[in-house]
Amino acid sequence: MSKTVTAAAHPNLAVVKYWGKADPRLNIPANSSLSVNLGSAHTTTTVCFSSDFDQDVVRLNGAAADDRTAARVTRHLDRVRRLAGRTERALVESVNDFPAAAGIASSASAFAALSLAASRALDLHLSERELSILARQGSGSACRSIPGGFVRWEAGQDDASSYAYQVAPPEHWDLRITTVIFSEQPKEISSSDGHALAQTSPFYAARLAGLPHTLEVVQDALLARDFARFGLALEREAVSMHAIAMTADASAGEPLSGPLSGLYYWQASTMQLIQQVQGWRRGGLPVYFTIDAGPNVHLFCEGAQQVALEAELARLLPAMQARTIVSAPARGAWVVSEG
Ligand code: DP6
Repeated sequence: MSKTVTAAAHPNLAVVKYWGKADPRLNIPANSSLSVNLGSAHTTTTVCFSSDFDQDVVRLNGAAADDRTAARVTRHLDRVRRLAGRTERALVESVNDFPAAAGIASSASAFAALSLAASRALDLHLSERELSILARQGSGSACRSIPGGFVRWEAGQDDASSYAYQVAPPEHWDLRITTVIFSEQPKEISSSDGHALAQTSPFYAARLAGLPHTLEVVQDALLARDFARFGLALEREAVSMHAIAMTADASAGEPLSGPLSGLYYWQASTMQLIQQVQGWRRGGLPVYFTIDAGPNVHLFCEGAQQVALEAELARLLPAMQARTIVSAPARGAWVVSEG
């Protein structure tokens, strides 16, 4: 029996998005991206290996994982076994304290926590960069949940050069990120399907050509704590990603659920909140949005504005039947216990 190791990681929210892969097998992205770890949500994962187990057993939120998830976890455990030169099967227990697959990328915190717990259980002491590379192979954005605070994922050209690193620690900027959850249903179109279709959008090449500039603007504004510059750039960036999704040729992929023309992650409430955000800014409340591959909206404000934003949301949200999770920038993946 190996050590039993429990590790945890926060999900991260991209302010410059990963959308489209240069190498789908290794999750090498088509572009570099930038994110912040969300402190009010996390995945906790416990792993132990034993030669007594005849197969990997994967439990998620207290129940057996579905076949697709279990197979993806086993593929990841195989990577860790290969690195350690070991063959034992594992028992994996993973718990999320936030809704899966609804716009907070649960695969990011899940594969970050799994990479740390499984590698430590097999006595591998990987550096932050090595862990980030391993987590990326499980789910691309997971590499950004390994370092703490504000994190950049350098696209790189191959396995060794595609990893994430910290650009500023969590305490660099007192930001609040309010995730407005309209739907806790798993999304119909996974981000992996979205990545695969990105290049079918006629606007994809234009997005990629503009991204190095976008990344520098967002990173500079972040380092300078220039909130208006940061906010406008991150909104434009989120809409650019969704423009690619909406104008992708969905018929080019695996048959998705019904005859879709493009990938529409937004719901009516998503658009309603986008317009409300612009209204708040006109009224003097500096708040900006971003949206991942789901209908939920993430609102950024500075700490001093959080009370005012909450008052506005308290008026608006009951009619929209939404709930919120408020996060501050947070640490990277950590070991909770081992022994
Ligand atoms: C919209 O990392 O979930 O959240 O590598 O296929 O597991 P896979 O995709 P994933 O994609 C995340 C897409 C996004 C944008 C982002 O987080 O950068």
